[in-house]
Amino acid sequence: MNDSTLRIGVFASGRGSNLQAIINSIEAGELICKIEFVLSNNSDSGALEIARRYNIPAIHLSERNFHSDNFESSFFQVLRKYNPDLIILAGYMKLIPQNVVTEYCNRIINIHPALLPNFGGKGMFGMNVHNAVFESKEKYSGVSVHLVNEEYDKGKVLFQEKVDISDCKSPEEIAEKVLKLEHVVYPKVLKMIYEKKMSLL
Ligand code: GRF
Repeated sequence: MNDSTLRIGVFASGRGSNLQAIINSIEAGELICKIEFVLSNNSDSGALEIARRYNIPAIHLSERNFHSDNFESSFFQVLRKYNPDLIILAGYMKLIPQNVVTEYCNRIINIHPALLPNFGGKGMFGMNVHNAVFESKEKYSGVSVHLVNEEYDKGKVLFQEKVDISDCKSPEEIAEKVLKLEHVVYPKVLKMIYEKKMSLL
């Protein structure tokens, strides 16, 4: 990993509020990090819009527009071009191609809006997570940052933070509380990695 700046590629499918939180932290001088590119499978994603606003290369790459071999090689073309130290998933709704996971072993990180290993796995994304937490009458939810492997939400957990949700009267209220926490936690974890206070091995 480069010593002076942490160079990251952000993958996102949706609105991009975590991307924005990372950008804010960089702009505030708290995080010494450069976002080399933002990649999305969704051409309408807010994340791509945010990237363009900050003159960050915004790349739309959807499996739908490719035969499978070409899709993987297009992924690699992007990675070779920008050569990030880390890939940061921020609401990226697709599995990462296996060969990319292998090449970027221990260098792909995801944020999950619950306390893994609970409320994770296939189908556990977005409001599905918060609905399940609400149904289970949990007193706490939280945020997990974890390494990415070939299975959804199964890589090593690097960092977790809890939030008290005992006052939340709906899944939406839980979602709001957890998202606020994500915006603090993701930049904080990147800072810890940059400062070598957290190991990815
Ligand atoms: C976040 O809740 C994140 O935990 C999950 O997807 C959501 C992305 O939100 N993986 P945003 O696009 O960063 O606003």
